Amino acid sequence: MRGEAEAEYRTSNIEVRVRQNSKFEIRCSMFEYKTGFKGRREMSKRKFNVAVAGATGAVGNQMIECLEERNFPVKSIKFLASSRSAGRTLRFRGDSVPVEEMTRKSFKGVDIALFSAGGGTSLEFSPVAAKAGCVVIDNSSAWRMDPDVPLVVPEVNPHAVADYKKKGIIANPNCSTIQMVVALNPIHRKCGIKRIVVSTYQAVSGTGKKAIHELYDQTRAMINFLDYKKNVYPHRIAFNCIPHIDVFLDNGYTKEEMKMVNETRKIMEDDSIGVTATTVRVPVFFSHSESVNIETEKHISADKVRALLKKAPGIKVVDDVGNKIYPLPIDAAGQDLTLVGRIRQDESIPNGINMWIVADNIRKGAATNAVQIAEILAEKYL
Ligand code: A2P
Repeated sequence: MRGEAEAEYRTSNIEVRVRQNSKFEIRCSMFEYKTGFKGRREMSKRKFNVAVAGATGAVGNQMIECLEERNFPVKSIKFLASSRSAGRTLRFRGDSVPVEEMTRKSFKGVDIALFSAGGGTSLEFSPVAAKAGCVVIDNSSAWRMDPDVPLVVPEVNPHAVADYKKKGIIANPNCSTIQMVVALNPIHRKCGIKRIVVSTYQAVSGTGKKAIHELYDQTRAMINFLDYKKNVYPHRIAFNCIPHIDVFLDNGYTKEEMKMVNETRKIMEDDSIGVTATTVRVPVFFSHSESVNIETEKHISADKVRALLKKAPGIKVVDDVGNKIYPLPIDAAGQDLTLVGRIRQDESIPNGINMWIVADNIRKGAATNAVQIAEILAEKYL
């Protein structure tokens, strides 16, 4: 442990430091993977009044960093959270910005609000913000399946942003869905995907900052033969896998699994795709991994899939098994590309492909995707 850091987690190329004030920092030394993003191309000259709702959370923190990194045209910035955080400050472009309690008056004069403050909060405050003339980009699941709210992954359906006018709200999809559709959409456009079978291996950061602390605390307790506490998950997450994300529904699936089914169809604009999912929480801090099997209408070889994905936006093919090279969560964390590897024929059916898809759930799975949507909005619609 160093300095004021409360918790640290390090691998050879990733360092996570959880501080006492609950802000955590991620450092990634895999610079060749570092986003591939070299600063925002020139946008419209207009600058925007931006609010980040849930600014003190895992995704909110990352949204602030993405706005900075991508040089989003910000005229003014407002950080909103619960009353617990009012009075704290967060940094933006070298300045200290106070965190304000989110109230119904917070959105006056705001052009774009990036929300990541939970579903209930979004249900209450997004319509208030929209009524004040602000466009909300919401990371919760509250609005995703509303027919009047577009659900957008910029690499897949950027045109859907235009529908923001219906309610003043754009939904950011579920983290596991985003990385899967980024990888599958190019194949669907070429060969038509009939069915997807996916199993996920999801990092604890997807549950928020409390879960990052829980994995760290339990791991530290166990390796020191101490008692551990369970606050966030129903079972110990350290040295374990929990096949239960979000609540169970009447059909025996979890809500997270059904999000993958319904959101995939909405984003890929094709209700005929069969999707079945098993979502699992694993003791990884950052980056979700997915084992994905697809059945296509037209045959496609593994080599052709590799060639197709190499040209596709937002993807890096990491697939050289002879040299033990495949996507790993520790390599995906801290950058914005979706890594795809282990691409191979499913030999049990005529038109099947298997692959392994990994992306940083807090960046491409949440904050980066939201800021990319804001960029489309700023460039084309506002
Ligand atoms: P706070 O830090 O004040 O609790 P995470 O997903 O990492 O747990 O973060 C959730 C984010 O949502 C935090 O910024 C949290 O603020 C914020 N939040 C939670 N409840 C509310 C609320 N009722 N009003 C505004 N922000 C909220």
